Amino acid sequence: MARPLTATVDLDAILQNYRYAKKLQPSCKAFAVVKSNAYGHGAIEVARYLDEEADAFAVAAIEEGLALREAGITSPILLLEGVFEGDEWTLCEQHGFWAALENAQQMDELVASQVKIEKIFLKLDSGMHRLGGDKETAPNFVTALKETGQVGEVVLMTHFACADDLSDLTTVQQLTYFEQARQAIGDIAASVANSAAIMKWSVPEGGWIRPGIMLYGISPFAGVSGRALGLRPAMTLSTKVISTRQLKKGDKVGYGLGYVASEDHVLATIAAGYGDGYPRHAQNGTPMQIDGQSACLAGRVSMDMLTVRMEDYSVAPSMGQEVVLWGDDVPVEEVADAAGTIGYELVTRMTARPHYRYLRKDSAQ
Ligand SMILES: Cc1ncc(COP(=O)(O)O)c(C=O)c1O
Repeated sequence: MARPLTATVDLDAILQNYRYAKKLQPSCKAFAVVKSNAYGHGAIEVARYLDEEADAFAVAAIEEGLALREAGITSPILLLEGVFEGDEWTLCEQHGFWAALENAQQMDELVASQVKIEKIFLKLDSGMHRLGGDKETAPNFVTALKETGQVGEVVLMTHFACADDLSDLTTVQQLTYFEQARQAIGDIAASVANSAAIMKWSVPEGGWIRPGIMLYGISPFAGVSGRALGLRPAMTLSTKVISTRQLKKGDKVGYGLGYVASEDHVLATIAAGYGDGYPRHAQNGTPMQIDGQSACLAGRVSMDMLTVRMEDYSVAPSMGQEVVLWGDDVPVEEVADAAGTIGYELVTRMTARPHYRYLRKDSAQ
């Protein structure tokens, strides 16, 4: 018998979430952001499923783009961080990659390479202070890029620092700064919105949106689940009960004896651990479900196993029962919260060890 831990990925949910992003910003084209192995969901499977419909894909680096091309993906692919070394420009031309560009070195290397690139996304630092130039230098960059004769179109791009916090006006300030830069440049398409901005902020018409986390049905906002935002969670992480034992009140469990039974109850041991990507910092009480009923973590997370109790002490879990660690009815956002992190981190930290199962279907519009 195989170890039962399985990540079931509903590819159709991802397609529906992509369509939802486009519906929210109907004037824009949309990247499907599939960096970091499609946020742990499997970049090749996700991109294959979306390839016919997606306007383009976005990845962090050329390695991720090359893996998609090797898998037969034909849609345009944007490198969100551009090139890391000058010789990557030749590969960009060969594979039809679009690239972000944020500094003079990347620009000089582009010119030296003499390659032709269909679209360059010029990064503007509108306040996050991570990548990109300022609004004073942006017009010169655009002119210089156009004058090379190597670039089909320049799009002005920025990224928000606080779009997930609706009470923080930084996003408004970043948008204002971005529009000032756009006006100084003249006629140029825009790309500003990540998932949070797509769902809750007013973004420039007609450009490119960049949904990532929302494609996977996960909320970018604290305290609200993807489902509550109208998204379809794409991943269910499930396993089985592999051992049970009767605990007496006061019995202690696991590494560091980090759980103490507050009354007599049956404890279940399940096949999942931090070696699979389940967060080691998850606290006692982190939610899950056994056989459709509420259960929770009881004891420190081991590499390969977890110990769990039912919420209702009078219910005894039994061998072989199905356990859902996150999925439709156990929001990954709540699990992340109980581990002091965010849904983004849980899914991108998934390892290769669980079995990955992909659900596909002919989806109606
Ligand atoms: C430049 C850029 N655009 C878009 C995204 C997608 O963001 P999200 O997953 O919040 O939608 C990311 C993710 O980090 C990013 O770095």
